[in-house]
Amino acid sequence: MDKKKLYIKTWGCQMNVYDSQKMADVLFPLGYAPVDAPDDADLMILNTCHIREKATDKVFSDLGRLREIKDARAGSKPLIAVAGCVAQAEGDVIMKRAKFVDMVFGPQTYHLLPEMVLQANGGARVINTDFPVESKFDHLPEQAAPGPSAFLSVQEGCDKFCTFCVVPYTRGAEFSRPPEQVIGEAKRLAGQGAKEITLLGQNVNAYHGGDYDLADLIAAVAEIDGIERIRYMTSHPRDMNDHLIEAHRDIPALMPFLHLPVQSGSDRILERMNRKHTAEEYLAIIEKIRTARPDIALSSDFIVGFPGETDEDHAATMALAEKAGYASCYSFKYSPRPGTPGAVMDGMVPEAVKDKRLQELQALLFAQQTHFNESAAGKTFPVLFDRKGQKPGQLLGKTPYMQSVYVNAPNEQAYARLFGEIVDVKISSAFQNGLAGEIVTSEAVLSKKSA
Ligand code: SAH
Ligand code: SF4
Ligand code: F3S
Repeated sequence: MDKKKLYIKTWGCQMNVYDSQKMADVLFPLGYAPVDAPDDADLMILNTCHIREKATDKVFSDLGRLREIKDARAGSKPLIAVAGCVAQAEGDVIMKRAKFVDMVFGPQTYHLLPEMVLQANGGARVINTDFPVESKFDHLPEQAAPGPSAFLSVQEGCDKFCTFCVVPYTRGAEFSRPPEQVIGEAKRLAGQGAKEITLLGQNVNAYHGGDYDLADLIAAVAEIDGIERIRYMTSHPRDMNDHLIEAHRDIPALMPFLHLPVQSGSDRILERMNRKHTAEEYLAIIEKIRTARPDIALSSDFIVGFPGETDEDHAATMALAEKAGYASCYSFKYSPRPGTPGAVMDGMVPEAVKDKRLQELQALLFAQQTHFNESAAGKTFPVLFDRKGQKPGQLLGKTPYMQSVYVNAPNEQAYARLFGEIVDVKISSAFQNGLAGEIVTSEAVLSKKSA
């Protein structure tokens, strides 16, 4: 079979990262092998995110670049595809405005890529932004090589309709994969060498597959041979039930890190956002989680400058962040999204005010993150090496608390053998964005591996 080159660029959340991987898996039997640059690719896919205006703008500027490559190419022209959430939300507009785009498809139809590619190669322009009745998950092939840390999508879509958010429109209604299917995939990943599995969903803790809730699913995955670490994301405070909180106490493989977005610390703004909880309720949930798992590290997402947000509301957000004490956070300026209720609310906050509030919040959150990382210095943690560093001999991994750690392997042999292992690392220095350390137990690992 002809070898063909596949270029995929991914924006947005982990669901999109997972989807891009699956697109590559679907296209593999057709002879497509991934490449890192679009320049000589035969098929270029932009897997897009619609969450904020900036994310969308970047897609259109990238499309311009791909068009130049396509125009300049002599002989058979590459196919250009737009996938993901911008495709879902603005598919018609893309088809109309960008005639050089061959395929547009949403997050729920990429299992049909072989057909779409066939049609596009025949000269047709293809658009597929349906929400099909049958699940794509029934049609996706096994991943080729998952690596030591793998994503596993268990739930998609969202019925929560926060007033700022496009996800319920781009991903559709909430849907949980059957537990047997998830557990089957987890076993295959473990068989291929994955030690860590991150269960993914837009509202992952709303998971309900048959009799299983997320805690049941985590317990079942924890039983699988070879799985040593489990994580899940993203959670909504409303679905953080006692059963799941107990799982943090009872299941050692469940890592002590939780991303639990709060968005705002003001009850008035939380209500306008339709988050359906108060600041106090959020802090009470955190308290419960910390009681169950005292060393848990927390992270969150914040939006500043939501319509109607006053200085007082912002001060409430600062106070909540101060009380919660985070290990790391994402924070954004509110970006009005067409079609969402927030976009037509009164009280739009001027850009300059949003800027100032974001700076103030980020100063606090970065200080918390730096403090959290610095508190790791001198301690020893088990680190899963799941990425290779930029410099030769450098390995990158994660602590249980999701901090990135880099080490220099003692020699070339150790470098090869340490990749994919969980090894004790003593932290020698801490930075805002990560840690550096030295391997404590390489001898043990080396002898185990070569035995
Ligand atoms: N499902 C997750 C988050 C989805 S989007 C949840 O429920 O929390 C990821 C983050 O993007 C959100 O948590 C929010 O902080 C941010 N975000 C979403 N819509 C936004 C908008 N219109 N403007 C700015 N930030 C937004
Ligand atoms: Fe968006 Fe809210 Fe659903 Fe999260 S819970 S995906 S923020 S609508
Ligand atoms: Fe973006 Fe779609 Fe994820 S809008 S954040 S890629 S669900």
